[in-house]
Amino acid sequence: MSVSLEDIVSLAKRRGFIYPSSEIYGGLSGVYDWGPLGVMLKHNLENIWWSSFVSSWDDMYPMDAAILMNQRVWQASGHATGFNDPLVECSNCHSRLRQDHVADDKCPVCGKTGTLSEPKQFNMMFKTQIGSTEDENSLSYLRPETAQGMFVNFKNILDTVQPDLPFGLAQIGKGFRNEISPRDWLFRLREFEMMEIEYFVKPAEWEKYFEQWRAGMMTFFKKVGLPESMVHEKEVPEADRAHYSQRTIDFEFDFPFGKDELAGLAYRGDYDLSNHQKTSGKDLRYRPKNGGEPFLPHVIEPSFGVERLVLAILSSAYAEDMVGGDPSTGSGQERRTFLKLDASVAPVKVAVFPLLKNKPELVKKAREVYKMLKDELGSVEFDDNGNIGKRYRRQDEIGTPYCVTIDFQTLDDNTVTLRNRDTTEQQRIKVEGSLQMLKFFKW
Ligand code: GAP
Repeated sequence: MSVSLEDIVSLAKRRGFIYPSSEIYGGLSGVYDWGPLGVMLKHNLENIWWSSFVSSWDDMYPMDAAILMNQRVWQASGHATGFNDPLVECSNCHSRLRQDHVADDKCPVCGKTGTLSEPKQFNMMFKTQIGSTEDENSLSYLRPETAQGMFVNFKNILDTVQPDLPFGLAQIGKGFRNEISPRDWLFRLREFEMMEIEYFVKPAEWEKYFEQWRAGMMTFFKKVGLPESMVHEKEVPEADRAHYSQRTIDFEFDFPFGKDELAGLAYRGDYDLSNHQKTSGKDLRYRPKNGGEPFLPHVIEPSFGVERLVLAILSSAYAEDMVGGDPSTGSGQERRTFLKLDASVAPVKVAVFPLLKNKPELVKKAREVYKMLKDELGSVEFDDNGNIGKRYRRQDEIGTPYCVTIDFQTLDDNTVTLRNRDTTEQQRIKVEGSLQMLKFFKW
C-alpha cells in the first residue's frame, strides 16, 4: 500500500513517538523532539547498530567527542569554506531557497518567475560564541558531522589504544546543519543524530574494505526490518560528492515522497588526517609495529542518520487492513492501522491485559504474568484501559508484536491467549509456555 507522510507524522504524534519541537510556541522549523515510544525505538535502533558494528568487532573503538570544537578543526576539515549550499532569494516574497530545489527560475513559494537572485554560497554550519568576549577567537560551531571528533583524536587513540590497522572509531551523537529549507519531517533537519564510523586502513587496501562495508550496511538495513526491495545503491558522481570524498555510495530509500538518501558510504582517503596534520603541526602518522615507515592511513566512512532510518522504518512498517466481523461479507469489519515493525526495533515487545479491569482476580493474575514477562523480556507494557478491542488497536498502532490476555479460563488452567499483531490470530497457551515462546522471538 502507498502511505502518505501525513499519515505517519500523525500517528507518530498521536502515539507519542515524535513531537514538533517547542510546539506550544509554534514549533521550530527543522527540529523535532522524541516522545517516550520514539526514544525506545531510537534506542533499539542504536543498540542494533552498536552490536552490529562495535561490540561484536575486535578492532572497533567507541568514542564520544564534544559537540563544540576549536574553530581550527573546521578550517582544517574544509567545512568553514566548503560546507555550503547554493542559496537564491526571491525579490518578490523574500523566500530564501536552495538553488537545486528550484526549477525553471520560478519561485516555488509565491509562484513568480524571474524573481530569483543569482546563487550565493551559504555556509551550513551553526556559529556560536564561546565565553563572554566577542572577538574572532571566541567563534565556534555546532558540529555538522561527528567524524571530525574522531579525526582530531586519532593521535590520542594511537597513543593510548595502540591499535593495529585496520581499526575503526565509532560514535553516536548529534549533528547540526543550518539547512536552507528543512523538509519532509525527519528527512532534512537542522538538528539530528548520526551514527558514524571511521575505519582506518592501509591505503592499498581501501577498495577491499569499501566493498566489505557496502555489504555490511545492507545487512544492517535488513536487520532493522527495512525491506531489501526499498533500499537502492547509488554511485555518487564526482561533481555531487562531498569535498572530502574520493568515492561515495549513497544508500537510497523509497520514502513516501520518493527515492532519496538514507545513509552514505564514503572513501575519504587521507584528506582529513593530512589536513589536520598540516594545520595542527602534529605528527598524526601511524607507526607499523614491525618497524616499517610511518604513514597516514586512509579512511572508509559508513555514516547513518538516525532520523532518516526511523522515517524509513516507520514508513515501510505502516499498514492498514480490515479486522473482525465477517471477512467473507465484510459486515462488522473495522479498519485498523498497524505498524509491522520488526520485533528488534519495536518499542514495546509484549503487552499484557486483564480481560476486564473491574475483576480483581483477573487484574491480580495479569499483574503476576506482566511481572514475570517484564523481568525476563524488559520492554513489556501492562494495559487495562478501555475495552480489549481498543487495547489491541493501540498496541497495533505502536507496533507491539504480541499481546497476552488473561481471562477467566486463565484462573482455571493457567493458560493465556497470545495474539499476533500482523495476523491478529490468537493461540491459547500455558503461561510458562508464553514466556518460552516469546523468548524464542529474538530481539
Ligand atoms: N560524515 C559524513 C557525513 O556527514 P552526510 O552524507 O553529509 O555525510 C550522513 O551525512 C548522513 O546523515 C546522511 O546519509 C543522512 O542519513 C544524515 N543527514 C545528513 N544531513 C541530514 C539532515 N539535514 N537531516 C537529517 N539527516 C541528515
